[in-house]
Amino acid sequence: MHTTVPPETGQAQSTERTVVMDVLNITKNLPLGRERIEILKGISFQIRSGEFVSIVGPSGSGKSTLLGIIAGLDNPTTGQVLIDGVDITRMSEGKLAAVRNSEIGMVFQAFNLIPTLTAQENVEVPLYVGKHKGSPSARAQELLALVGLTHRLDHRPNQLSGGEQQRVAIARALATDPAFVIADEPTGNLDARNGENVLELIAQLRTQTGKTFIIATHDPVVASHADRTIRIVDGKITEIEHSNGSFT
Ligand SMILES: Nc1ncnc2c1ncn2[C@@H]1O[C@H](COP(=O)(O)OP(=O)(O)OP(=O)(O)O)[C@@H](O)[C@H]1O
Ligand SMILES: [Mg+2]
Repeated sequence: MHTTVPPETGQAQSTERTVVMDVLNITKNLPLGRERIEILKGISFQIRSGEFVSIVGPSGSGKSTLLGIIAGLDNPTTGQVLIDGVDITRMSEGKLAAVRNSEIGMVFQAFNLIPTLTAQENVEVPLYVGKHKGSPSARAQELLALVGLTHRLDHRPNQLSGGEQQRVAIARALATDPAFVIADEPTGNLDARNGENVLELIAQLRTQTGKTFIIATHDPVVASHADRTIRIVDGKITEIEHSNGSFT
Protein backbone atom coordinates (compact mmCIF):
# COMPACT_ATOMS: atom_id res chain seq x y z
CA MET A 1 0.00 0.00 0.00
CA HIS A 2 2.97 2.32 0.52
CA THR A 3 3.85 4.70 -2.27
CA THR A 4 7.56 5.11 -2.68
CA VAL A 5 8.62 8.66 -3.21
CA PRO A 6 11.94 9.40 -4.86
CA PRO A 7 14.41 11.17 -2.59
CA GLU A 8 14.38 14.94 -2.91
CA THR A 9 17.60 16.02 -4.49
CA GLY A 10 19.64 18.52 -2.53
CA GLN A 11 17.84 17.79 0.76
CA ALA A 12 19.67 16.92 3.94
CA GLN A 13 17.45 13.88 4.45
CA SER A 14 17.69 12.26 1.07
CA THR A 15 16.70 8.80 2.25
CA GLU A 16 13.65 7.31 0.58
CA ARG A 17 10.57 7.72 2.67
CA THR A 18 7.13 6.38 2.05
CA VAL A 19 4.09 8.60 1.86
CA VAL A 20 2.03 7.69 4.92
CA MET A 21 -0.63 10.36 4.58
CA ASP A 22 -2.05 11.82 1.40
CA VAL A 23 -4.44 14.75 1.83
CA LEU A 24 -6.34 15.35 -1.41
CA ASN A 25 -8.22 18.56 -2.09
CA ILE A 26 -10.00 18.84 1.25
CA THR A 27 -12.84 21.34 1.57
CA LYS A 28 -15.02 22.04 4.59
CA ASN A 29 -18.20 24.09 4.53
CA LEU A 30 -20.36 24.73 7.55
CA PRO A 31 -23.78 26.31 7.77
CA LEU A 32 -23.87 29.71 9.43
CA GLY A 33 -27.43 31.00 9.67
CA ARG A 34 -28.82 30.78 6.13
CA GLU A 35 -25.39 30.90 4.52
CA ARG A 36 -22.59 28.38 4.33
CA ILE A 37 -19.09 29.40 5.23
CA GLU A 38 -16.10 27.85 3.52
CA ILE A 39 -13.57 27.00 6.21
CA LEU A 40 -11.17 24.90 4.10
CA LYS A 41 -10.91 25.69 0.40
CA GLY A 42 -9.04 22.82 -1.25
CA ILE A 43 -6.09 21.66 0.85
CA SER A 44 -3.65 19.07 -0.53
CA PHE A 45 -0.32 17.81 0.85
CA GLN A 46 1.55 14.60 1.55
CA ILE A 47 3.29 13.50 4.72
CA ARG A 48 6.16 11.03 4.69
CA SER A 49 7.08 8.50 7.29
CA GLY A 50 8.94 9.99 10.28
CA GLU A 51 8.44 13.61 9.21
CA PHE A 52 7.77 16.45 11.64
CA VAL A 53 5.40 18.84 9.89
CA SER A 54 4.10 22.02 11.47
CA ILE A 55 0.93 23.77 10.39
CA VAL A 56 0.89 27.50 11.01
CA GLY A 57 -1.40 30.39 10.15
CA PRO A 58 -3.52 33.13 11.71
CA SER A 59 -6.25 32.43 14.25
CA GLY A 60 -9.35 31.21 12.41
CA SER A 61 -7.42 30.12 9.31
CA GLY A 62 -8.61 26.50 9.66
CA LYS A 63 -5.72 24.67 11.38
CA SER A 64 -7.80 22.88 14.03
CA THR A 65 -10.49 22.04 11.47
CA LEU A 66 -7.84 20.49 9.23
CA LEU A 67 -6.26 18.50 12.08
CA GLY A 68 -9.69 17.17 13.09
CA ILE A 69 -10.22 15.93 9.53
CA ILE A 70 -6.80 14.28 9.09
CA ALA A 71 -7.22 12.63 12.51
CA GLY A 72 -10.58 11.17 11.47
CA LEU A 73 -12.52 13.12 14.12
CA ASP A 74 -14.44 15.17 11.57
CA ASN A 75 -15.55 14.68 7.94
CA PRO A 76 -14.50 16.95 5.09
CA THR A 77 -17.24 18.28 2.80
CA THR A 78 -15.25 17.01 -0.20
CA GLY A 79 -11.81 15.48 -0.65
CA GLN A 80 -9.98 12.49 0.74
CA VAL A 81 -7.45 11.61 3.43
CA LEU A 82 -5.47 8.46 2.65
CA ILE A 83 -3.59 6.81 5.48
CA ASP A 84 -1.27 4.15 4.09
CA GLY A 85 -3.30 4.39 0.90
CA VAL A 86 -6.68 3.82 2.58
CA ASP A 87 -9.31 6.58 2.45
CA ILE A 88 -10.45 7.28 6.03
CA THR A 89 -13.15 9.73 4.93
CA ARG A 90 -15.28 6.92 3.48
CA MET A 91 -14.99 4.50 6.39
CA SER A 92 -17.74 3.28 8.66
CA GLU A 93 -17.60 4.80 12.16
CA GLY A 94 -16.55 1.44 13.65
CA LYS A 95 -13.65 0.95 11.26
CA LEU A 96 -12.60 4.57 11.63
CA ALA A 97 -12.58 4.28 15.42
CA ALA A 98 -10.24 1.30 15.08
CA VAL A 99 -7.91 3.28 12.77
CA ARG A 100 -7.92 6.24 15.17
CA ASN A 101 -7.09 3.97 18.09
CA SER A 102 -4.24 2.11 16.39
CA GLU A 103 -2.77 4.74 14.05
CA ILE A 104 -3.33 8.18 15.53
CA GLY A 105 -2.37 9.71 18.87
CA MET A 106 -3.84 13.15 19.60
CA VAL A 107 -2.50 15.90 21.86
CA PHE A 108 -4.58 19.02 22.58
CA GLN A 109 -3.81 22.51 23.87
CA ALA A 110 -5.95 21.96 26.99
CA PHE A 111 -4.39 18.50 27.67
CA ASN A 112 -7.88 16.85 27.83
CA LEU A 113 -6.96 14.36 30.55
CA ILE A 114 -9.74 12.63 32.48
CA PRO A 115 -9.80 14.50 35.83
CA THR A 116 -10.89 11.55 38.00
CA LEU A 117 -8.13 9.23 36.77
CA THR A 118 -4.47 9.13 37.77
CA ALA A 119 -1.66 9.81 35.30
CA GLN A 120 -1.14 6.07 34.86
CA GLU A 121 -4.86 5.38 34.36
CA ASN A 122 -5.14 8.19 31.79
CA VAL A 123 -2.35 6.60 29.74
CA GLU A 124 -3.99 3.15 30.05
CA VAL A 125 -7.37 4.32 28.67
CA PRO A 126 -6.62 3.87 24.92
CA LEU A 127 -5.24 0.40 25.66
CA TYR A 128 -8.64 -0.81 26.86
CA VAL A 129 -10.07 -0.05 23.41
CA GLY A 130 -9.23 -2.65 20.74
CA LYS A 131 -6.56 -5.32 21.09
CA HIS A 132 -3.07 -4.42 22.27
CA LYS A 133 -0.08 -6.49 23.27
CA GLY A 134 1.05 -6.74 26.89
CA SER A 135 -0.43 -5.30 30.06
CA PRO A 136 -1.88 -1.78 30.00
CA SER A 137 -0.35 -0.91 33.37
CA ALA A 138 3.17 -2.00 32.33
CA ARG A 139 2.85 -0.11 29.04
CA ALA A 140 1.57 3.04 30.80
CA GLN A 141 4.46 2.92 33.28
CA GLU A 142 6.96 2.47 30.44
CA LEU A 143 5.55 5.52 28.61
CA LEU A 144 5.39 7.68 31.72
CA ALA A 145 9.06 6.78 32.31
CA LEU A 146 9.80 7.86 28.72
CA VAL A 147 8.29 11.30 29.40
CA GLY A 148 10.06 11.57 32.78
CA LEU A 149 7.06 11.09 35.08
CA THR A 150 7.81 7.86 36.94
CA HIS A 151 7.44 9.82 40.20
CA ARG A 152 3.92 11.02 39.28
CA LEU A 153 2.09 7.79 38.33
CA ASP A 154 -0.62 8.16 41.00
CA HIS A 155 -1.22 11.90 40.65
CA ARG A 156 -4.50 13.15 39.23
CA PRO A 157 -4.43 15.95 36.63
CA ASN A 158 -5.19 18.65 39.25
CA GLN A 159 -2.15 17.45 41.21
CA LEU A 160 0.13 17.96 38.20
CA SER A 161 1.64 21.11 36.66
CA GLY A 162 0.59 22.15 33.15
CA GLY A 163 3.85 20.84 31.69
CA GLU A 164 3.43 17.54 33.53
CA GLN A 165 -0.17 17.21 32.33
CA GLN A 166 0.94 17.73 28.74
CA ARG A 167 3.64 15.08 29.19
CA VAL A 168 0.95 12.65 30.43
CA ALA A 169 -1.14 13.56 27.36
CA ILE A 170 1.86 12.84 25.11
CA ALA A 171 2.41 9.49 26.85
CA ARG A 172 -1.28 8.71 26.31
CA ALA A 173 -0.99 9.66 22.63
CA LEU A 174 1.84 7.12 22.28
CA ALA A 175 0.12 4.33 24.24
CA THR A 176 -1.14 2.27 21.29
CA ASP A 177 2.12 2.81 19.37
CA PRO A 178 0.39 4.83 16.60
CA ALA A 179 2.12 5.83 13.37
CA PHE A 180 1.08 9.47 13.80
CA VAL A 181 1.03 11.94 16.65
CA ILE A 182 -1.22 14.87 15.77
CA ALA A 183 -1.01 17.80 18.16
CA ASP A 184 -3.10 21.00 18.20
CA GLU A 185 -1.19 23.84 19.89
CA PRO A 186 0.55 21.47 22.34
CA THR A 187 2.53 24.32 23.92
CA GLY A 188 -0.31 26.87 23.77
CA ASN A 189 -1.21 26.63 27.47
CA LEU A 190 2.35 26.38 28.74
CA ASP A 191 4.84 29.02 29.80
CA ALA A 192 8.02 29.41 27.72
CA ARG A 193 10.05 26.99 29.83
CA ASN A 194 7.47 24.20 29.89
CA GLY A 195 6.80 24.78 26.19
CA GLU A 196 10.51 24.30 25.53
CA ASN A 197 10.50 21.11 27.66
CA VAL A 198 7.59 19.66 25.71
CA LEU A 199 9.38 20.51 22.48
CA GLU A 200 12.59 18.83 23.62
CA LEU A 201 10.51 15.83 24.58
CA ILE A 202 8.95 15.70 21.12
CA ALA A 203 12.40 15.91 19.49
CA GLN A 204 13.64 13.10 21.74
CA LEU A 205 10.55 10.96 21.04
CA ARG A 206 10.99 11.41 17.31
CA THR A 207 14.50 10.02 17.53
CA GLN A 208 13.46 7.20 19.83
CA THR A 209 10.22 6.17 18.13
CA GLY A 210 10.52 7.31 14.48
CA LYS A 211 6.91 8.47 14.62
CA THR A 212 5.40 11.04 12.29
CA PHE A 213 4.45 14.30 14.06
CA ILE A 214 1.95 16.83 12.71
CA ILE A 215 1.65 19.89 14.92
CA ALA A 216 -0.50 23.00 14.53
CA THR A 217 1.10 25.91 16.33
CA HIS A 218 1.34 29.68 16.74
CA ASP A 219 4.76 29.22 18.29
CA PRO A 220 7.61 30.07 15.87
CA VAL A 221 10.00 28.03 18.06
CA VAL A 222 7.88 24.90 17.55
CA ALA A 223 7.63 25.55 13.82
CA SER A 224 11.40 26.08 13.57
CA HIS A 225 11.96 22.49 14.74
CA ALA A 226 9.84 21.05 11.91
CA ASP A 227 11.12 19.46 8.69
CA ARG A 228 8.40 21.33 6.84
CA THR A 229 6.02 24.13 7.72
CA ILE A 230 2.69 24.37 5.95
CA ARG A 231 1.16 27.85 6.15
CA ILE A 232 -2.60 28.18 5.92
CA VAL A 233 -4.33 31.49 5.41
CA ASP A 234 -8.11 31.72 5.08
CA GLY A 235 -8.55 27.99 4.43
CA LYS A 236 -5.85 27.69 1.75
CA ILE A 237 -2.18 26.69 1.75
CA THR A 238 -0.14 29.76 0.91
CA GLU A 239 3.33 28.23 1.22
CA ILE A 240 5.27 25.19 2.35
CA GLU A 241 8.69 25.97 3.81
CA HIS A 242 11.32 23.24 4.11
CA SER A 243 13.84 23.19 6.95
CA ASN A 244 16.62 23.93 4.46
CA GLY A 245 14.95 27.28 3.77
CA SER A 246 13.42 26.42 0.39
CA PHE A 247 9.79 27.11 -0.38
CA THR A 248 7.29 25.29 -2.53
N1 LIG B 1 -18.63 24.37 14.33
C1 LIG B 1 -18.38 25.50 13.66
N2 LIG B 1 -19.38 26.23 13.12
C2 LIG B 1 -19.14 27.37 12.43
N3 LIG B 1 -17.90 27.85 12.24
C3 LIG B 1 -16.88 27.18 12.74
C4 LIG B 1 -17.04 25.97 13.48
N4 LIG B 1 -15.81 25.52 13.86
C5 LIG B 1 -14.92 26.41 13.38
N5 LIG B 1 -15.56 27.41 12.71
C6 LIG B 1 -14.91 28.54 12.04
O1 LIG B 1 -13.96 28.01 11.15
C7 LIG B 1 -12.80 28.84 11.08
C8 LIG B 1 -11.57 28.01 11.32
O2 LIG B 1 -11.54 27.57 12.68
P1 LIG B 1 -10.32 26.76 13.27
O3 LIG B 1 -10.66 26.44 14.68
O4 LIG B 1 -10.02 25.62 12.37
O5 LIG B 1 -9.14 27.83 13.17
P2 LIG B 1 -7.66 27.76 13.75
O6 LIG B 1 -6.75 28.08 12.60
O7 LIG B 1 -7.43 26.48 14.47
O8 LIG B 1 -7.62 28.99 14.77
P3 LIG B 1 -6.80 29.18 16.13
O9 LIG B 1 -5.40 29.51 15.70
O10 LIG B 1 -7.47 30.33 16.78
O11 LIG B 1 -6.90 27.92 16.92
C9 LIG B 1 -13.03 29.95 12.10
O12 LIG B 1 -13.46 31.09 11.40
C10 LIG B 1 -14.14 29.41 12.98
O13 LIG B 1 -14.91 30.45 13.48
MG1 LIG C 1 -7.04 26.02 16.47
